[in-house]
Amino acid sequence: EKGGHDYFMLKEIAEQPRAVADTLLGRVGADGQLVLDEMRLSDQELRDINKIIVVACGTSYHAGLIAKYAIEHWAGVPCEVELASEFRYRDPILNRDTLVVVITQSGETMDTLMAVRHAREQRSRVLAICNVNGSTIPRESDAVLYTHAGPEIAVASTKAFLTQLVACYLVALYLAQIRGTKFGDEISQVIEWLAQIPARVEEVLRTVEPVRALARSLADERCVLFLGRHVGFPVALEGALKLKELAYMHAEGFAAGELKHGPIALIEEGLPVVVVVPSPIGQRVLHDKIVSNIQEIRARGAMTIVIAEEGDSAVAPYADTLISIPAVPTLLQPLVATVPLQVFACELAAAKGHDVDQPRNLAKSVTVE
Ligand code: F6R
Repeated sequence: EKGGHDYFMLKEIAEQPRAVADTLLGRVGADGQLVLDEMRLSDQELRDINKIIVVACGTSYHAGLIAKYAIEHWAGVPCEVELASEFRYRDPILNRDTLVVVITQSGETMDTLMAVRHAREQRSRVLAICNVNGSTIPRESDAVLYTHAGPEIAVASTKAFLTQLVACYLVALYLAQIRGTKFGDEISQVIEWLAQIPARVEEVLRTVEPVRALARSLADERCVLFLGRHVGFPVALEGALKLKELAYMHAEGFAAGELKHGPIALIEEGLPVVVVVPSPIGQRVLHDKIVSNIQEIRARGAMTIVIAEEGDSAVAPYADTLISIPAVPTLLQPLVATVPLQVFACELAAAKGHDVDQPRNLAKSVTVE
């Protein structure tokens, strides 16, 4: 049942190329245009939207944080992202022209369901991105875009996360398409790139063996920090969450630009710090800033574990461990950068002797508020 893998989590990590391909299937027309007619919201309704609020919990919330970059960049619609458990307790400003996008693997998360009900009471439209057909949240939403990750058994979300990202990109690109935002050419190029992602994830999976060795060598550490910028920041948060839930270690993700505003005080001799580096070509300015951050923390004794684009020679000299990922457009980088972090957390937890698929205190779907 685990397909030759030791854990469901490893099986599900390995299934990611297929999960991503399935989530794209049937959504790109022969002319390269997106077709999302299953969504049940008319193009006119989607054109009238003037604000998007993405609401989710945990890993799904991290997908939402990444969605914001894509929605604002491609579709040009202002976008906020909020934890479902906070959303309805702060008088969010909602009306008919607000689209609330909820992201949920299970479709049963109570915090997220309550957010759906609150948004609909305020007459906002609700679009659910969900992995479980016919679950409660899609049934109570105005529209649904299903991810096709297949059943996710391990408590820690992996393949569902990647497919949530794909669904978010599809929503952002579709909005760009029907609203005719100025990035027309970029839109069709990104759609072509998305089709390449399963092969790129496959490449990452073929080269993660050193990540496993590294993870095993860190089994006695007490704390790991994760840094990123731009879409790499939510990837850092996700890497830290995986490590907390599976390895029961103190793990924290920061925006690298915030280091100097406090977190750098945490750096001490031997502290492992994982850094997700933006593309040296697509994101020159941020890339160079993060390379300086890596030099700074290394000078203070940090052990640097660097996830960077293949051929990034500027960062290589400052990496104690270098994990290379394929070059993809900036906004899509989380699809490849997250995978080594999943493997890292899984392997480290296994090295500690923990139950990888059923971490203590956690349930697969959280049906209480
Ligand atoms: C983390 C994890 C949880 C879920 C969260 C939301 O690996 O699995 O953080 O992401 O409980 O669950 P869904 O997406 O089912 O609403």
